[in-house]
Amino acid sequence: MSDESQRPSGEERRAQGLGAEREGLGDREMSRLHDQLLREKKEPNELMRPMPLWLVTLSGLVVAWAAFYFGTKYAGFSAEVFDPNYEGGQVTVQAEEPAFDPIAHGERIFRNNCVACHQSDGQGLPGAFPPLVEVDWVQGNPDRSIHILLAGMNGPIEVNGQAYNGNMPAFGGILSDRDIAAVLSYIRVEWNGSEVVPEDRVADLRASAPRSAPWTGEEILADYPLP
Ligand code: HEC
Repeated sequence: MSDESQRPSGEERRAQGLGAEREGLGDREMSRLHDQLLREKKEPNELMRPMPLWLVTLSGLVVAWAAFYFGTKYAGFSAEVFDPNYEGGQVTVQAEEPAFDPIAHGERIFRNNCVACHQSDGQGLPGAFPPLVEVDWVQGNPDRSIHILLAGMNGPIEVNGQAYNGNMPAFGGILSDRDIAAVLSYIRVEWNGSEVVPEDRVADLRASAPRSAPWTGEEILADYPLP
């Protein structure tokens, strides 16, 4: 962006210099001219220079590393896997649906729906919420507990010698047959040395004996006496 017209071009300066030489300038004049020429260097400009080899090599290495990293870790974009140590070949194994475990599922259902009242150890709160551990109410014929879960229960009851008169909410509209069977299986197997409750049994009772009003303790025990 320099203003070319204000300064003598290289050609002009060279011509001056040659002319001066021809006229036979003295040493001083000559070195002054040289000083001038040396001071006025050519403006730097961008030439067609190739990228430095080291930069080409480095970029190549970075791209190759990125491709390798992506290729070994992208895991088929599987949403199920985010394992930074993924080694390959595991996805298909992990993607297989694990066998349904009613006890483990039941524990989840219990944590999400029952702990607020019956407490995480299933011991309940004396006088307010009855225990579910080692109680005859959840042992023996599972129909009793299935009905209580489907329609709820209120009114006075006695559990392990302690009196309760609270409100057990209905879960028929919230939990599926599978969930109800699983949570009861969890309670029976883990805390009462009893057997698993089949999902079919919940479906049967839901269909054959639909009920919207909660049971009273008296009613349910008349139909399903304690063992
Ligand atoms: C809002 C509190 C509350 C929640 C939540 C609740 N219960 Fe209850 N549950 C009670 C009360 C209160 C009783 C006693 C009802 C009565 O006095 O008639 C009871 C009674 C029971 C009984 C029969 C009595 C016994 O000790 O065995 C079972 C079985 C039972 N609940 C299981 C469950 C399960 C399983 C869940 C979760 C899916 C659950 N409850 C969630 C409050 C609750």
